[in-house]
Amino acid sequence: MTVTADTLPKPTITLPEMGCGTWAWGNRLLWDYDESMDGGLQQVFNYCVANGVTLFDTGDSYGTGKLKGQSEKLLGKFSQAYQGPNQAAICLATKLAAYPWRLTRNMMTQAGLASQSRMGRLDIAQMHWPTANYFPWQEGALLDGLADLYDQGLVKGVGLSNYGPKRLRWVHQRFAERGIPITSLQVQYSLLSTFPVTELGLKEVCDELGIQMIAYSPLGLGLLTGKYGADTPKPKGLRGLLFRQLIPGIQPLLDCLREVAAERDKTMAQTALNWCICKGTTPIPGAKNLDQAKQNIGALGWRLSPGEMEELDRTAANSDKQMVQNIFQTR
Ligand SMILES: NC(=O)c1ccc[n+]([C@@H]2O[C@H](COP(=O)([O-])OP(=O)(O)OC[C@H]3O[C@@H](n4cnc5c(N)ncnc54)[C@H](OP(=O)(O)O)[C@@H]3O)[C@@H](O)[C@H]2O)c1
Repeated sequence: MTVTADTLPKPTITLPEMGCGTWAWGNRLLWDYDESMDGGLQQVFNYCVANGVTLFDTGDSYGTGKLKGQSEKLLGKFSQAYQGPNQAAICLATKLAAYPWRLTRNMMTQAGLASQSRMGRLDIAQMHWPTANYFPWQEGALLDGLADLYDQGLVKGVGLSNYGPKRLRWVHQRFAERGIPITSLQVQYSLLSTFPVTELGLKEVCDELGIQMIAYSPLGLGLLTGKYGADTPKPKGLRGLLFRQLIPGIQPLLDCLREVAAERDKTMAQTALNWCICKGTTPIPGAKNLDQAKQNIGALGWRLSPGEMEELDRTAANSDKQMVQNIFQTR
């Protein structure tokens, strides 16, 4: 059956201009989380929703060790307690992991239900990553299970993550044959990571297919905030190791971002997020405390000029280093 974007039902969810990422909420290993942060994270949630940042991205694999599922549980707790402006617009989007032991259609649907019970709701279920790069035969059943969640009215939308244009078209066709629209696709996208958006033309394909694009790690894991430099303390563990490798090669980009931000009287984080918004994507910066959330929300309500965008694009394209790509990202 030939299905075109015109004959496919349109997604019913329109994403806000910006969302909030919650990978750090429950992750001790990479993000230094501890439970004493929970009060502050609830303030982040409340402030975001009240200011129109109503999309929250999580994953059923988020949380380290005993804290697995903590990000979803916190979102469940905070969303149920929230009373204030934009309550009806809250959108909780989880990513269901393509674990090697998650093999059948039913296992994927059950995973969606488990996330739903941790959060008390589930608005968008996303496939966390494609298995095309290593177990291509695994993917079809998991996608069918994801689509079942939509078909059975258990979620308002389905989304994908880490897909390139070729594989995206393949899933789009599979879903279209069941009349199921893809609400969103999230990929790593920032001034430090333009593949696969620029190099593979992914945004154009999303626009053609009516899929909204979410930019994950839009602050380059914190590097684009400017707080980590050659002479400043780095985060502990893996992130610190990565930053030590990247910082010398991205100095011109950080300098350019700092200058553009200063001329605008904005912070580097706000400018980096505004760049994502100007590219037509919905950034989902992670925030670990209220100050970060407040600052990030200052990326809304203004736009970089075409000249500023061009300067940032040029400097990013000439950067010696880029963020490492997700190993699951397909073409
Ligand atoms: N689909 C996928 O495979 C995938 C992969 C990665 C991420 N994601 C999603 O995307 C979300 C965002 O990406 P991310 O969390 O990886 O990285 P990010 O948004 O690029 O960076 C977030 C980190 O930067 C720091 N930060 C944030 N705002 C700041 C501010 N205003 N000033 C100073 N520092 C600030 C915080 O860490 P510190 O304070 O510790 O520096 C924060 O945790 C995740 O939470 C997750 O929901 C999805």
